[in-house]
Amino acid sequence: MGPRIQVFLLLVYMQCIAAKTDDEDLAVLNSLKDTWDNIPPRWVGSDPCGDNWEGIGCNNSRVISIILTSMGVAGTLSTDLTILSELQILDLSYNEDLRGSLPSSIGDLKNLTSLILVGCSFSGQIPDSIGSLQQLVFLSLNSNNFSGEIPPSIGRLSKLYWLDLADNQLTGPIPVSDGISSGLDMLVQTKHFHLEHNLLSGTIPNKLFSSNMELIHVFFEDNKLTGIIPSTLGLVLTLRVVRFDRNILSGSVPSNLDDLARVKTLFLSNNNLTGLMPDLTGMNLLSYLDLSNNTFNASDVPSWFSTLQSLTTLMMVNTQLQGVVPSDLFSLSRLQTLVLKSNQLNGTLDIGTSYSSQLELVDLQNNFIIDFTERGAPDNVDFILAGNPMCRSELNSSCMARGKTFNYSTALKNCQPISCNSDQISSPRCKCAYPYTGTLSFRAPTFSYLGNSSYYVYLEASLMQSFDLNQLPVDSVSLHNPRKNSLEYLEVSLQVFPASEERFNRTGISRIGFALSNQTYKPSEIFGPYVFIAHPYQNFSESNNSESSKPTSIGIIIGAAVGGFVILILLLIAGAYVYHRKRSAEIANQQNPFVHLEMNRSNGGIPDLKEARRFSFQELSEYTNNFSEANIIGSGGYGKVYKGTLPTGQLIPIKRAEQESAQGSLEFKTEIELLSRVHHKNIVSLLGFCFEEGKQILIYKYIPKGSLKDSLSGKSGITLDWITRLKIALGAARGLAYLHEFANPPIIHRDVKSANILLDERLNAKVADFGISKPVDNTRKSHITTQVKGTPGYVDPEYYRTDLLTKKSDVYSFGVLMLELLTGRAPIKREIKVAKDKDKDLYNLYEFLDPTIGLDTTIEGFEKFVDVAMRCVEESGEILNHLCCTKEAPINFNQTIEFPSILGYVQVLMFSFFNP
Ligand SMILES: *[C@@H]1O[C@H](CO)[C@@H](O)[C@H](O)[C@H]1NC(C)=O
Ligand SMILES: *[C@@H]1O[C@H](CO)[C@@H](O)[C@H](O)[C@H]1NC(C)=O
Ligand SMILES: *[C@@H]1O[C@H](CO)[C@@H](O)[C@H](O)[C@H]1NC(C)=O
Ligand SMILES: *[C@@H]1O[C@H](CO)[C@@H](O)[C@H](O)[C@H]1NC(C)=O
Ligand SMILES: *[C@@H]1O[C@H](CO)[C@@H](O)[C@H](O)[C@H]1NC(C)=O
Ligand SMILES: *[C@@H]1O[C@H](CO)[C@@H](O)[C@H](O)[C@H]1NC(C)=O
Ligand SMILES: *[C@@H]1O[C@H](CO)[C@@H](O)[C@H](O)[C@H]1NC(C)=O
Repeated sequence: MGPRIQVFLLLVYMQCIAAKTDDEDLAVLNSLKDTWDNIPPRWVGSDPCGDNWEGIGCNNSRVISIILTSMGVAGTLSTDLTILSELQILDLSYNEDLRGSLPSSIGDLKNLTSLILVGCSFSGQIPDSIGSLQQLVFLSLNSNNFSGEIPPSIGRLSKLYWLDLADNQLTGPIPVSDGISSGLDMLVQTKHFHLEHNLLSGTIPNKLFSSNMELIHVFFEDNKLTGIIPSTLGLVLTLRVVRFDRNILSGSVPSNLDDLARVKTLFLSNNNLTGLMPDLTGMNLLSYLDLSNNTFNASDVPSWFSTLQSLTTLMMVNTQLQGVVPSDLFSLSRLQTLVLKSNQLNGTLDIGTSYSSQLELVDLQNNFIIDFTERGAPDNVDFILAGNPMCRSELNSSCMARGKTFNYSTALKNCQPISCNSDQISSPRCKCAYPYTGTLSFRAPTFSYLGNSSYYVYLEASLMQSFDLNQLPVDSVSLHNPRKNSLEYLEVSLQVFPASEERFNRTGISRIGFALSNQTYKPSEIFGPYVFIAHPYQNFSESNNSESSKPTSIGIIIGAAVGGFVILILLLIAGAYVYHRKRSAEIANQQNPFVHLEMNRSNGGIPDLKEARRFSFQELSEYTNNFSEANIIGSGGYGKVYKGTLPTGQLIPIKRAEQESAQGSLEFKTEIELLSRVHHKNIVSLLGFCFEEGKQILIYKYIPKGSLKDSLSGKSGITLDWITRLKIALGAARGLAYLHEFANPPIIHRDVKSANILLDERLNAKVADFGISKPVDNTRKSHITTQVKGTPGYVDPEYYRTDLLTKKSDVYSFGVLMLELLTGRAPIKREIKVAKDKDKDLYNLYEFLDPTIGLDTTIEGFEKFVDVAMRCVEESGEILNHLCCTKEAPINFNQTIEFPSILGYVQVLMFSFFNP
């Protein structure tokens, strides 16, 4: 014990020494203090690293990060700053009063990985020395007043991932390499080119793009680019968003653009493009297409429009379309907005009978349409037909532009509205506070109808999840006033409310600002990339002349004392543990609760283990490195699961019963007996077993992707989209249906939960862990009386009350599992029920949706899924008709729900997903 405490004290001592900030770095920070106004009030003393100056991050006495977003800092970037040779992150975003130019010595910050200066007032040229920042990964200089040309040296930033120079006054051409100087074509690692809303001119060089690139976003809109769209663009197959609109591009659209099969959003509008209208049949993920205001050759409405199954938005204003609008265009199931204004469309408008249920706006103004077959035309769709011949004679309601109004603001979270005094604002949880505010600007959403509140509810939930994950001091967020700006960006006002206090402190604000400026928060791809621009925060919790916290020498002494105490306790616990282990091993060796099975075996009554083979203990020891701690991959009441490796290299999970636990042995025996009878592709299979010398060991087939629980929690790194979740629900339901209906006698699993659903390499579900399962003897009764077992949260309350185990108990747990698939969270049935009862439109439920699903892979069948889940977790077997769901496919709940019917429902959901 002695030496450990000594080492510990030595560490504490070293920390005291290390707390001294490097002299040169201290001098730089002191110089910043002198040149900047509104620096954080706690920047006092001579040890920024030891005293935790706000926004300053250190490693071993050297300053490695400066993050001061939304601090109201005013001044210029002095050359002194560039002496911080170990600096890795510099983020001064959202300080409107930081101005002047970037010093050319910025190139000295050789260790810089992130340079983020969003929404300040910097101006002048971007210095060529920026190309010396060889470690740079993230470069955001957007929303400033930079002018001059893009320095070609940016092409030398070989590690660059994110390049954002948008919303400046940059002029001149897009630089490409020419053997002497470098250019943006060299950025083959970069995923994001954001150059929109500048004054860039010249042609887009053919050399800029190549098949080596990994770009996913190219934003060039609202510049003064001329010439043709280079055909090399069609080689960058990774592209998802392409915006070239609002330039002066001419010529015809290169035909190989059609190869860009992953593009979801394409804007080529407001250019001078000519020739044939491009054929984009190959872009089968295309959601948003805008080709408006170009001078293509006159043509009929192309038939390939009607093949784009993901299309939400088609904007073809003034594109020389002629002929009749084909009615199958309206049956694209995701279609929200169709704007074919100012063309030469004629004939009669017929939208057919199977038009998209998402349709919101059809704008056909200024065409030659003579009539509108309004058979069953939906009331909620806005048809605008003004400026067509049909509107000269009669005054149809469609002849007057209506324009829908919608609004959104975050709903209160189960609380009474309150009024706040002065400039405080009520949070969604009805607390008065000073929120951090700003605007989120989504630059290429894949949808166009802004009146669907589920989008915003999703954004709120995913923002909160990201803030929680990063442990930011946020109580709640609220969104309001969604709108489109003149560049078709979706803008939403954001308010972020502080946790605990009514104001944020400086550290809180700069961490939140950083999470948004450096894109730590990533919403679903359906929203496209975003830019956040914050308003200055005026209400910091410290006043500007508050005292700094005093040096921490007393703190360190207390820390040492507490630390020593903790170590002492840990050592004691460790000692006690070793003793306990020894002792229990001794006890366990004296009894063998498995004798019963051994005896059965000798008189021929052993279970038929089919393909399962017998392993010797010796073999298994070799495969698991003597059952070493390092090989343990799971544990529970029964014992431990080890990872083993067969001589062939094949991995096998090995479950070994805890020797001292009688329960462990019993569970073991149950599992052997059940698994030996049960063979189904959605149930884990047994490879072998070993019972020698009182040891009870089972060997399973390896299920590579681990448990569903680990995938849902993000632990395994697998993200499950909606269709995969449906597939998992279906697989698990199949396995359980087999147990209930086809196993003889039927088996009740009793411990259905996400930890017991394993996923194979193709993410097929396999039901596992039969330790507490029970066979039901069909000939006698449909329920058995047992002591209640299972996992809290998943256990049927009815079973809990009555001790009667029925198949319904598994149905209940399965319902909880379905809700978990939906929300990604451990059992939260009650909250969902409250939300559902309150709002029959189910919108409240989007709030619970696991943000990692994203709205991207449309959640078809969402409502029905919730209905089935809620039906499963109904507490009594009685009929509850109000849960009955949609009119097209009513689910018949007039019978007790059992697995065969659940299976049917989930299959219907899958079907409606594939055939929307
Ligand atoms: C801190 O410095 C040590 C040694 O210089 C280095 O190994 C470590 O990676 C650094 N940590 C960070 C976060 O840069
Ligand atoms: C910073 O850069 C110097 C050389 O420029 C290098 O020696 C040092 O290891 C770097 N530090 C870190 C933390 O990467
Ligand atoms: C931006 O810079 C231009 C000159 O390049 C200047 O005319 C303009 O006033 C500046 N705008 C702002 C907001 O500072
Ligand atoms: C673009 O086309 C419009 C309409 O055809 C024409 O008026 C304009 O001059 C063209 N602009 C350029 C730069 O070619
Ligand atoms: C097309 O051009 C007109 C006139 O310049 C403009 O008002 C309109 O917004 C443009 N339409 C689209 C969809 O860009
Ligand atoms: C498109 O229109 C131009 C000018 O009207 C014409 O010269 C050209 O042949 C047309 N292209 C096609 C493929 O019809
Ligand atoms: C519609 O326009 C097309 C092409 O301009 C023409 O051939 C056709 O006759 C027109 N149809 C009607 C019904 O006016």
